[in-house]
Parts: sequence; structure tokens; C-alpha cells
Amino acid sequence: MKIVVRIVQFLFAAVFIFSGLAKCVDPAGTSIKVTEYLQYFGFGMLTDLSMGIAWLLCIVEFICGVNILLGHARHLTLVVSTLLLLLFTPLTLWLALTDAISECGCFGDAVHLTNWQTFGKNLILIVMLALLWTKSELMYRLMGRTFYVFYSYCALGLAVWLCWMGSWREPFIDFRPFTPGTNLKEAVMGEGQEQTTDSDSEWVCIYQRNGVRQEFSLDSLPDEAEGWEFVETIERHADGKVSDDRSKAEPKHIDFFVKTADGEVITDELLSRPGYTLLLLSHSLDKASQHDIDRIELLSEYAGDNDYGFLCLTARDEKQLERWKFNTGAEYPFVFTDASIIETMCRSNPAVMLLRDGVICWKTPLSRLDAEGLTSGKLNEQTSGDIEEINYHNRILLVLFLLFAPFFLFLLVEIVQFLHKQTLINNSKKMRKKIVAGNWKMNTTLQEGIALAEGLKEALAGKKVNCDVVVCTPFISVASVVKAVEGSVIGVGAEDCSAHEKGAYTGEVAANMIASTGAKYVILGHSERRQYHGENNELLVAKLQQALANGLTPIFCVGEVKEERVNGTYKEVIEGQMEALYTLSAEDFAKCVVAYEPVWAIGTGLTATSEQAEEVHAFIRASIAKKYDAAVADNTSILYGGSCKGSNAPELFAQPDIDGGLIGGAALKVDTFMPIIEAWK
Ligand code: PGA
Repeated sequence: MKIVVRIVQFLFAAVFIFSGLAKCVDPAGTSIKVTEYLQYFGFGMLTDLSMGIAWLLCIVEFICGVNILLGHARHLTLVVSTLLLLLFTPLTLWLALTDAISECGCFGDAVHLTNWQTFGKNLILIVMLALLWTKSELMYRLMGRTFYVFYSYCALGLAVWLCWMGSWREPFIDFRPFTPGTNLKEAVMGEGQEQTTDSDSEWVCIYQRNGVRQEFSLDSLPDEAEGWEFVETIERHADGKVSDDRSKAEPKHIDFFVKTADGEVITDELLSRPGYTLLLLSHSLDKASQHDIDRIELLSEYAGDNDYGFLCLTARDEKQLERWKFNTGAEYPFVFTDASIIETMCRSNPAVMLLRDGVICWKTPLSRLDAEGLTSGKLNEQTSGDIEEINYHNRILLVLFLLFAPFFLFLLVEIVQFLHKQTLINNSKKMRKKIVAGNWKMNTTLQEGIALAEGLKEALAGKKVNCDVVVCTPFISVASVVKAVEGSVIGVGAEDCSAHEKGAYTGEVAANMIASTGAKYVILGHSERRQYHGENNELLVAKLQQALANGLTPIFCVGEVKEERVNGTYKEVIEGQMEALYTLSAEDFAKCVVAYEPVWAIGTGLTATSEQAEEVHAFIRASIAKKYDAAVADNTSILYGGSCKGSNAPELFAQPDIDGGLIGGAALKVDTFMPIIEAWK
């Protein structure tokens, strides 16, 4: 199930990211669609807000996609995505049933879907969303929260930048057919063909009004002012059939025609004109900015002086035309086409397009045109008369790069940080003492103990030992074992000491007695003493003080019982046991060794996994750092104990916070103890 949820999560995210970006690169195109919707549903008075709504829509969609991809802010994102789909799915069903608007524009101009296809796509998205809602806890969370915050800002920046580029200039990535370099003549006619491709067919334009479509021949196109909206141009054959294989007949067909005020179609004439033609484009003269009239004047004068064509191509609306002529004093010729064609040619209003022999050289919003620079020399003598080179493939790559670069940047930072931390850990681990200590417990007679110690001494003789080796023996053996290992690397310790200095404590052994044998270590707080002799923190503090006062190194044991591991309280338990050590000054604490021995692993054959052990060791070290400081924590040796053997010691000792072992059963034979010592390579 998890895998299904994650596949759905990434697919859903990919669709939202793609459709968000496809619209972000061309917010003007999205705003045209928004205007169509608003007008169709009777909210014409809101059309001034279309651009703002377009920005909001595409940015929200894109950010929803990003959030779903990263698996963060799940609830809010799922709510917003659901609202979007609940709004647009019924809308697209309505469009599919009525064909009121020819295309929903959900992928901008990047991918064209019919209304039914869009509806189908939305249904699939709803099913996907339902799954994400019910199983949101299974969604993958890509990287941590810091990355999410960082990436959200990067993604928002990318979306806003694309919208900004597309709003004040032409779309950053242009999926429409009127890009610089396009041979309009070939594209309109079909390569090497006339507009009428066979003598028995004719080109007709499809218009729609109130959801009703109608065909018009090119010389009797309807008036847009009467509510007709251009849909497309098609080739109708004598037998009534429409060219259905348009891609073959017209490889780059573009719906484009131009008429004079008398209704005469002059597309061919305009596009066949040799040399340069400047087109001033305005899909709506009333909405065109009149601030740049001076530039238009310059251009038209320049065109007249140099015998270049200069035409204003606009949508036919007599009233608007009269107002424009009156306000601007325009004397240049006006030609007409459909407003939607002009909007497809140039998003800005007004815009200027330069044609050379029917090929688009460049197009630009009039406000960004350097008219003086352009007209100070002849067009064909300067670069501004050349075809502008815009590499859309590179721009697509740039957007993809900006989309994915933060991932790699963050990953790089994470890797560097990880390596840095690892180096610090390794360095501090290198500085700490490594110890393998045996705890013989209540095993071995005096003679057996001496023999075991001598055997170990012999096994270690002449060997390079990479850790301190300690054996902690029953009291009865301590003095003899000290003697037996003389001249070797082996240190000796006891398994306990009295909490009292001396006196009437029958059966007890004082720390100074242990020290008097030459022993250097003492195990304190072993779980068996805690369990069978009721040792608690208060008693252990007294024992610690005795040990330290007599120059012994305490190996202080902590560890949880099985129940505490299962119910998850083990860290608090260990922290509580450490409190006995925390009564010491930093200086005294530095003389101690800590041993973590999970009680459930002692003598049971159950070892804590290296991850479980490392987790607690790191926790203990962090706790020491909190109590004292990082330097004290870095210098404290923390041993692991509990079914440690030659087979698992290398993996345990390789952990960053494990500095050796306290070994019970395996310390009773030289053959089983040696491999653990040798685990320190
Ligand atoms: P074990 O004992 O190695 O036999 O599990 C360890 C200890 O109690 O110190």
C-alpha cells in the first residue's frame, strides 16, 4: 500500500507542478482564459482582476505540487488541492457538455487537451487525491523541515520570477506558434502550398456565439462586436469533409488571416511583401496604453521614409478604432484579424512585431521598444533587423535546473555537514581511551583465576594491543592476579567496593584495601548488585567517593531492564542512574568510565543491535555534555556490555560513541576474550 501511495503522491505532484509551471511561464495566456471564464459566467466586471487571479492560480497550483512532492504541510495542501479540483472539475464537465469555451487551458499552451480529456484527467486526480487523503500518513516526506522551508522559498521565487517575466514581457517559454524565426507565410499556407490546397476545397473560419459554432468563409467573417468569437480555421473539401490529418497536410499550420477595412483578405499579400514590415499589434485598442504614442510616430515615420511596411493589426471594432484615431492622431493603415489571434501572436497590448519576407524577426511590448535606437539606422544595417535568437530548449533546461538545483544544493550541504560531523566524531573518538574489561563475576577459584590471568598474559605477550585490557576479579583473586599479570599491559580491578572507609562492616572490602593490592579499577553499580543487593544512587555516590579517594577508576554501570526498553522509558531510567555520577565535580567525573549494559542483554545471548547501543551511547554522551561540557563528554569512555562476543564486537566498537566493552561470560576463557580485544584493530 505504501508504495502505491507514494507513486500516486509523486504522479499527482508531477501533474500539479507541470500545469502550474506551464501557466506560470505565460500568465497573460492564463489571464485570457480567466477573462473568458469570468465573461461567460457573467462576472465581466471582474475582468480587471484576471491577471491577479491568473498569478494566484498558477502559483498556488505549483506550490501545492511542490508540497505534495515533498510531503510537507500535508493537511493544508490537500485541502487547497481539493478546493481547486472541486472548483474546476464541475467547470470542465460543464465545458465538455456545452463546449462554451473551446479549451480549458489547464496546461497553458504547453499541452492542449479537449474539454472531455481535461474532465477525465480531473476525475483521475480526484481519485488520486482521495487516496492521499485516506492514507496521508503513508506519504513520503522528502528531506527534513529545514529543507522544506528552504525549498518552498526557492520554488515560490521561481514561480514569481516566471510570472513576472511572462507578465511584463513575452512568455519566458513560448509554446505558441508565433516565435521569432517562424516563417509565417509557410506556416499559414502550409509548406509550399497555397492557402487553398486543392481546387475542390476552401478555407473557412469557425466562430462561436453563445455556445453555438458556425463556419464563415474568409471573405465574409462576422463582426466580433456582435459577440462572435474566433475558434479556428479549417480546410473544408468539396465533399463536405474536413482535413482531418492536419499535421500531414500542414506541418506547421497557423490560424492567421488579415483583412482590410473592406473585408478583403490580404494575408498572402502581407506575408509576401519583400523586405521589412513593422506590425503594431493590439487586440483591444481601448485597453492599449497610449503612453507610447511617440514611439509609434517614430516607427511609422521611419517606415514611410524607408519604404517599409507599417500596419496596425487589430480586432475590428469601429468605435474603438475611431477613439484610437482621435486620441492618437493615427494616420497609418489599419488591418484586421481576430482578437484571439492577436493575443496568441503577442501577449502585450500594444506590441510590435517585425517581419522580414514573411518571417518573424522579433516581437516586443511597445513599452520596451527602443524606437529611437531602432530608427536611427536602417533596419537591415543593424542587428535589430535580425531574427532574434531565443533558445527555448535552453530556457526549459534553465527552469528545470532552477526547479531541481535546490535539491542538489541542499544535498551537498547535508553531505558536507555529515562529513564534517563524522570527522569531528572520529577525531574525538581517536582521543578517547579504548577499553576492553572482563568482569569475572562470581566465577573462578583462586587457582583458576591465576591460571586464567596467566593465560591471558601469555596470549597478549608480544602482541600489539590497541586498547587498555582490564580484568575485574572476585576480591579473593585480586591481589594474586595483580601479581600474575605483572609486566603485562593488563590492568586489574575489583567488582565492587564498600561505601565505607573502614570499620565494623563485616564482610565488606574497602576501596583502600583494593588499591593496596595494586589494582586500579573497580566496577560500581553493576545491574546484578542493583538487583540482588538493592544498590541505589545514594549508596553508589558513597562508593564512588571511596573509589576516587583511593585512586581507583570506577567503571560505573547503567542500563535498563526489558520492561523499560519495551515501554520506551529507558532513556529516563539511564539518565536517573547517571545522576549518581553527576554528583561528582567535572574533574572527578573525568576519572570515571561509564558502561552501558542493557539488563535484558546481560548473559542472555541477546545483544543490543549496534544501532540500539549507539543510540544510548550517544544519548549518554549528550547528557554528559549537558551536565558538564562537550570537552568532558568527548573525553569520557563509554563501554558496552551485554552478550558482547568476538563476533559482534567489531560492529559494536565501530560505532562513533562506543569505546569498548565490559565482558562477562566471554571473559572467562582466553580464547573467547582475545578476539574481543583484537576487535580494536
Ligand atoms: P555478559 O555480561 O557479557 O555475560 O552478558 C556482561 C556484564 O554483566 O558485565
